[in-house]
Amino acid sequence: MFKTRYTPLFLIAILLFLASCSTGKEGDTIHIGFSQAMSDDDWRRSMNDAMELQASLNPNIDLTIRDANYEVQRQIEQIEAFIADSLDILIVSPIQSKPITPVVERALDAGIPVIVVDRKTENEKYTAYLGADNIEVGRNAAKKIISSNAKDSIRIVEIRGMAGSSPAEERSLGFAQIINSYKNAVIVQQIQGDWEKESIQGQFRELLQKNSKIEYVFAHNDRMIRGAWEVARDLGLESTIHFIGVDGLNSPDGGIRMVEDGMLKATVLYPTGGEEAIKLALKILNGESVPKNNILTTTIIDEVNAEIMKNQFDKINEQQEEIENQLVAIKQQEELYYSQNNLLKITMALLAIILSLALYSVYSIFAIRKKNRQLELTNRKITVQRNQIEKIAKEVEEINEAKLNFFTWLSHEFKTPITLILSSIESINDVAKEKGLRLMNEVELIYNNSNRLLRLINQLLDFRKVEDRKFTLRASKTNIFTFSKNIFKEFEREAKKRNITFKLSINNEDMELFIDRNLMDKVYFNLLSNAFKFTPENGKIEIDIRDHVNEDTVAIHFRDSGIGIPEKELDGVFQAFFRGSNNRKNSSGIGLHVSKEFIEIHAGTIEVRSFHGTEFIITLQKGRAHFDESQIIADQDLVDTNIIDFSSEHLVDENYLVQVPERDQENYSVLIIEDNRDLLRFLKSKLKSEYDIHLSDGTDAIEKAFEIVPDIVLCDISLPNKNGFEICEILKGDLRTSHIPTIILTAMGDKESYLKGLESGADLYLTKPFSYSILVQSIKSLLYNREKLRFYYTSNIHKIEDSDAFGNLEQRFLSEVNRLIKDNLDNPNFSVENLAEHLNISRVQLYRKVKALMGISISDYIGNIRLEKAKSMLENTSLTVAEIAYATGFSSPNYFSTAFKNKYGMPPGSFRKSV
Ligand code: FRU
Repeated sequence: MFKTRYTPLFLIAILLFLASCSTGKEGDTIHIGFSQAMSDDDWRRSMNDAMELQASLNPNIDLTIRDANYEVQRQIEQIEAFIADSLDILIVSPIQSKPITPVVERALDAGIPVIVVDRKTENEKYTAYLGADNIEVGRNAAKKIISSNAKDSIRIVEIRGMAGSSPAEERSLGFAQIINSYKNAVIVQQIQGDWEKESIQGQFRELLQKNSKIEYVFAHNDRMIRGAWEVARDLGLESTIHFIGVDGLNSPDGGIRMVEDGMLKATVLYPTGGEEAIKLALKILNGESVPKNNILTTTIIDEVNAEIMKNQFDKINEQQEEIENQLVAIKQQEELYYSQNNLLKITMALLAIILSLALYSVYSIFAIRKKNRQLELTNRKITVQRNQIEKIAKEVEEINEAKLNFFTWLSHEFKTPITLILSSIESINDVAKEKGLRLMNEVELIYNNSNRLLRLINQLLDFRKVEDRKFTLRASKTNIFTFSKNIFKEFEREAKKRNITFKLSINNEDMELFIDRNLMDKVYFNLLSNAFKFTPENGKIEIDIRDHVNEDTVAIHFRDSGIGIPEKELDGVFQAFFRGSNNRKNSSGIGLHVSKEFIEIHAGTIEVRSFHGTEFIITLQKGRAHFDESQIIADQDLVDTNIIDFSSEHLVDENYLVQVPERDQENYSVLIIEDNRDLLRFLKSKLKSEYDIHLSDGTDAIEKAFEIVPDIVLCDISLPNKNGFEICEILKGDLRTSHIPTIILTAMGDKESYLKGLESGADLYLTKPFSYSILVQSIKSLLYNREKLRFYYTSNIHKIEDSDAFGNLEQRFLSEVNRLIKDNLDNPNFSVENLAEHLNISRVQLYRKVKALMGISISDYIGNIRLEKAKSMLENTSLTVAEIAYATGFSSPNYFSTAFKNKYGMPPGSFRKSV
């Protein structure tokens, strides 16, 4: 946050700071322009150097030197360029006076002060002149000649500087003034030069060759006099002629050196005035009043003062060098100073930034703390609110749960009365059928509506279970055509009544699928009920089952020609409480939702299409690989059995049509444990013709079971003291009753209750409302199985110990009985009482237990074992009949013979012979 908001400010600060960093130049710059006539000789170079040195002493001076290189036109143009640049001041050394005069005037007119140096312009239109007096220069040269040769006549040659330049004219003038005033001296010839030696050497050679009698040669500068000397030397006349020049430069080729070397008689000092020109310019710019003509001192340098002059000039040069070095050092110091100054400023700026950052950080810390405190406060408020909401939500949930529990309980409670109604009507129907009568329509109405009521209750309970995700699948291998046909039949009557074309078709009648019949039955019923609800009379409904032969799926289409579902509402069809906008009928809106859940538990899909009616397509997978092994059950679950429609054919599984073996007149005993008196009474009235009925309301169930040791127990789950599971578990865990087949009858159809029932050892689990016929068949089936076991056991007495046919408890019991009998085989006094005592149960209970397990009395059982043993001894030993009789516990050989004959059809003696 800081970054984005403050970065631009920092950048601005840094830019401002950098702009404030200086390179050391303070105040306004003074622009000085110098138009130099030429720069290829030492005098001019010396002039330029002096100017630059002087200018460098003032850091504000910006000096520009332009060299015209002897070209007049060029000098004019350069001056004009200076004027255009708006100089502060102009210095000009004109090549020639006349042509340069106008441009100097123009500079003045432009407001630029002009200093003319060395050579003058034609008029006096300039700010100031600076230079030596050239007339004086000429005079000094002449005076030197006169003073050296006062008495003799002197023949002189004058070599002139460039024509039209003021020094040449003035030097000539001054020279002539003195020479002409002296009668012995005469200027025999003037040679016109242009300041350079080459311009005069030819003329001078000619002159000397014609006229060798020359005493003095005066040239207007030292370069031209050197040229003349060289010519004289070439002609061997250098020692007969005296040479005088002008400039007096202290350089290797300069005038002073030539004097010292004896080449020149003298040279007239002509100072360049470079240093003075800059000083004068500054004065003018400072507004000081300066003289128009600033004349520099001139003097004669000859053999007398040449050395002194040289030393002085050397000294000056050294000083100048020193100054230059000082200047360099100062410049370096300045640079150092400025860089350090800048560094200091940068450091200060950074410090300022750091300081502001630190301040900002401190501010931020406080601000964040404040914010944190606010947040904490808000958090605490939110936590309090959340806790309140959670508490309220929990309360609401608890209330909701309580309501739902109540609602579920109520639904369960409805089931028992409905069962009674349905079973009663079923029973009435049976009686009516026997008598060849038909029931009144009203009774059918009661039956159909009770059924409807039951389905609604079941649907509500299913919805609860779907919401709680409590459904688990119990799939069994099912012929889908037969399954579909059974349900199809239930709707045939209604189809017929309303003239609806109702069809069931399949492309593979043998198709088998693993489905949970109970759940799938509900799906079918739901889809068909909907179809019938929304299809008008004379319409069409069909179930079309397509085995996708080359794929692993089967599609079940439910098509109707009903009102259909609006296209845009199709997506919501399977949502709970959906109701189509065109649906005027009563509908809970949960049937399709529950159906979809059921199909998805089967790892299948359900889709809906609507075009001229509605079509639901269920796609199921073939095989069982998509289920867990725990989801597969071997046979049809009795829990899943449908209520039988009393008006249709009874569809009873063949397994229940078993023939119960005849029993010697004695009825089987049934103990019914149920706290609903109506149901108790109903069951008693229905079963009493075939069974000995014992009743318990649950409070004395266990005691009664132990006392009676019935052949079968029917037990409800919701009971006052112990619940059905507990009772069942106790009975199954007790030796006296562990063998008794137990049927649990309950309104609780959920998976958990079913599993609990199985865990408690129950043999069958029937959910209310159960069909009375199914109950009867179940009882018969269990008794039959028990008989089969008895038969098996009594024929395989010796194999009991290895058999899995009985429960562990039974097996252990029988093993123990067998062991005790065998141990006492030769003891004729070993009685049933002794055996019961050893087994820690009563004689009656032992009798009933053995009777229940074997179908024979315990004394018969003991007798049988003895006889079996005796039979084996007859076959395998050579003991006498009497010995065998005693060895197997018979009190007398006669009694043994009678008993043996009764069992095996012949006396023991005959049996041995027959072996
Ligand atoms: C240099 C020079 C000097 C002379 C002066 C006259 O260019 O020729 O030798 O004294 O100019 O203007």
